[in-house]
Amino acid sequence: MINIAILSAKGGTGKTTLAIALAHQYAVSNPNREIVLIDADNQGNVGISLDLKTENTLGAYLFQATDTLDMVQYKPSAPFFVVDSGRMHLYEAEKRIHRMDAPVDYFREHLLQEFSANSLLIWDLPPTLSIINDNVLNVADFVIVPTHTDYLSLTGIGNLLSYLEHFRKEHPVKCRLLGIAITLHREHVTQNRLNRESLEAAFPDLMFRSKIPLSTAIATTAQNHRTPLEASEPRARQAYTSLVREIHQRMLKFQEEHG
Ligand SMILES: Nc1ncnc2c1ncn2[C@@H]1O[C@H](COP(=O)(O)OP(=O)(O)OP(=O)(O)O)[C@@H](O)[C@H]1O
Ligand SMILES: [Mg+2]
Repeated sequence: MINIAILSAKGGTGKTTLAIALAHQYAVSNPNREIVLIDADNQGNVGISLDLKTENTLGAYLFQATDTLDMVQYKPSAPFFVVDSGRMHLYEAEKRIHRMDAPVDYFREHLLQEFSANSLLIWDLPPTLSIINDNVLNVADFVIVPTHTDYLSLTGIGNLLSYLEHFRKEHPVKCRLLGIAITLHREHVTQNRLNRESLEAAFPDLMFRSKIPLSTAIATTAQNHRTPLEASEPRARQAYTSLVREIHQRMLKFQEEHG
């Protein structure tokens, strides 16, 4: 089992959009592997974007309103599975988990057994420092951070790195920060270009080369219930394909180096 967490400490940085693109591309490229996109954000944006609804959601399962966890396939041509968030149930479940003896270990001990050993789990996370994010970091192999290049998003990167550092001091986790992906990017806007350059100077080994442009074709995929790889503009689709390829290469390299 491989767990990939899509995380940022700032809202609206393109986490959900990237998580959906990653799930789509991986499912197409790995027909023998179970690819599961788990919406662990009580906004429920994965299910809303893909127009998928289930009864036995992540929230319902964690809240113990059900002992079944539904996984629904997006479509045969993009055969990844989705675990829907469950929104209010997830919100209530979070409070319940807080009251447990070892709240940060809850997913490891009470949720992961629902997925097959060869599955690849992609976690779409809320932009908050929360017990849900702690649980996912505790099981994650890789963390990917999407960021916009505006000022507040840049400060969000600093907040996120402090959170990861703080978390590592408290918990012996294996998760590796795989990289930072620039999203919703406008290279022709001076402020965005300068901020992109300063990010690359500050984190030369972490930045992915592929950048996701700000694009109406991507912005409208959610309301059209499509993935970014089904966006109407080839440039938008290619940006995601190339980013996912880079993510995959980095994961392979890491696995080769560390077994
Ligand atoms: N490359 C893009 N160009 C234009 N709009 C985009 C792009 N990527 C995402 N969007 C839009 O920007 C908004 C935020 O994207 P998304 O929901 O993926 O971010 P998020 O980080 O998951 O947000 P949240 O923190 O609220 O979960 C959405 O309305 C989405 O459709
Ligand atoms: Mg989101």
